[in-house]
Amino acid sequence: MNISPLLQAHRSIRRYKPDAIPPDLLDRVLQDAFAGGSSSGNLNMVSVVRTRDAERKRRLYELHFEQPMVLQAPLVLTFCADTFRTREWLTQRGARLNFDNLIAWHVAAFDAIIFAQTTALALEAEGLGLCYMGTTLHSMREIADFLELPPNCLPATSLVVGWPDEAPAQRDRLPTAAWCHDEVYQRPTPVSIDETFSEREVRGWARYRALGDEFVAEMDRLGITSLAQFYTSDLKYAPQRFQEDSEKLRALLAERGFLP
Ligand SMILES: Cc1cc2nc3c(=O)[nH]c(=O)nc-3n(C[C@H](O)[C@H](O)[C@H](O)COP(=O)(O)O)c2cc1C
Repeated sequence: MNISPLLQAHRSIRRYKPDAIPPDLLDRVLQDAFAGGSSSGNLNMVSVVRTRDAERKRRLYELHFEQPMVLQAPLVLTFCADTFRTREWLTQRGARLNFDNLIAWHVAAFDAIIFAQTTALALEAEGLGLCYMGTTLHSMREIADFLELPPNCLPATSLVVGWPDEAPAQRDRLPTAAWCHDEVYQRPTPVSIDETFSEREVRGWARYRALGDEFVAEMDRLGITSLAQFYTSDLKYAPQRFQEDSEKLRALLAERGFLP
């Protein structure tokens, strides 16, 4: 029952062997993860769409900003916040309707994330590798349409899954003192910010500078001289794209029945 070795072995995997995942293994992992994760009100307002077909994966690859692992991995799991099924049930039983609002979006999206991470652990326990696809949030409408999701159902996150073909080193995390608070929140000071990020600024910077001459030249062209600058540059999390995609998300939540 000791989960520490499993957690310590976690690495995001971005290179996969072509071997398929046995269908019965996948079924069991998903069923265990679904049964073994908490769910708000036990309403289970989530759905997962399995994409294995090579042609359909090619389209998902485009929607996930052409991250090569989407093509390489034999499976993509798209975890959806789904209040549609519950609302159909309520309608069919003549009960009062609900779950077409922002709270319900969060309830269902949290359930979807809990299910995704429980699935991730169950997959890793079987020796499978995975990587989350944050691009899900930036292509939400297109992914929803491609997977033919009904109203009140939107993708919250995705996992690419397969047998690992790499053994990357463990990635660092911010030190415990930075994020673990007793009783009340301890605001960081300039000195503690320096301490919190110092190791990352060395290792992270070195990792991105090792991505090849072309990438380094682009960093230099954009005048990026630190890890902090890199993170909000056009090469990583550009504020303008986040702003634009936030507007798109708001419009989509309204259109698909999670906002008035
Ligand atoms: C919600 C979420 C979205 C992510 N999206 C991506 C992604 O689009 N591409 C990618 O290569 N890694 C993605 N990752 C993986 C992170 O980069 C990775 O978890 C982090 O660098 C720490 O590395 P580790 O998972 O190996 O410990 C994502 C992780 C999370 C939790």
